[in-house]
Amino acid sequence: MGLLENKKIVITGVLTDASLAYGVAQIALDEGADIVLTGAGRALRLTQRTARKLEHPNGDAIDVFELDVTVPEHGIAVREALAEKWGRVDGVLHAVAFAPESCLGEDFMGAPWDDVATAMHISAYSLKALADAFVPLMGDGGSFVGLDFDNRQAWPAYNWMGVAKSALQSVSRYLARELGPKGIRSNLIAAGPIKTMAAKSIPGFAAFEEPWDGRAPLGWDVTNSEPVARSVAALLSDWFPATTGEIIHVDGGYHAIGA
Ligand SMILES: NC(=O)c1ccc[n+]([C@@H]2O[C@H](COP(=O)([O-])OP(=O)(O)OC[C@H]3O[C@@H](n4cnc5c(N)ncnc54)[C@H](O)[C@@H]3O)[C@@H](O)[C@H]2O)c1
Repeated sequence: MGLLENKKIVITGVLTDASLAYGVAQIALDEGADIVLTGAGRALRLTQRTARKLEHPNGDAIDVFELDVTVPEHGIAVREALAEKWGRVDGVLHAVAFAPESCLGEDFMGAPWDDVATAMHISAYSLKALADAFVPLMGDGGSFVGLDFDNRQAWPAYNWMGVAKSALQSVSRYLARELGPKGIRSNLIAAGPIKTMAAKSIPGFAAFEEPWDGRAPLGWDVTNSEPVARSVAALLSDWFPATTGEIIHVDGGYHAIGA
């Protein structure tokens, strides 16, 4: 029996087959889950195209729903569709982040509030928005898993996206507090750097990538998202039943090493 046999899982954030969420989607299918994907805005078409690359054990097509995390009506529409399709949701992957150009790069001071607000809305508040959408379908408990980048220190170029990640960590803890009594967990995976579309849009990403492999005791391959995907699958499964509000580093051990 697969780790996620019979689990009904909503996967946000699949854009290309390099997306961290794509790896999660494939492992979830391999481990027996039923999944749907969500996509947003102009990228929805790309998500639909990428969905066809996933290998479903039964050869079935995978549904893709429109869900821009800043549009509450989308969340309600997906919930209604899933109430009909599945009657429940067991797990949700939050793999959504965006920051306008002014928020990334060399000029931390240059980002105007409107741009910072956009980054916070899409990258942090959105976890709560997904909870609004799907908690009503989690009658028997459930698991939210979000993708984080450890922001205990300031990084080159990451700037306001780093601030948004700190906010995401806090949102996850408050959700853990709020939803624990319903048997619903909220946890984050703090991933090491992986070459995805989002990562490529960060000018200076190479400054993260280059030292990572050398410093991480287990080593780190920026082109292999499987370690992240496997860890997400574990958190979505029943094998972390007493863990919530947690941040698990999946970074080759980089965070634990001083120099
Ligand atoms: N790649 C890395 O190095 C790395 C490391 C740690 C954490 N993460 C996190 O992993 C998550 C997934 O990113 P990725 O690296 O796979 O890149 P990606 O570009 O493949 O995925 C980002 C996703 O965010 C979605 N998105 C943007 N705005 C949205 C909105 N308004 N509503 C709904 N979806 C929206 C995009 O459509 C895309 O699918 C992000 O939270 C990112 O911060 C990435």
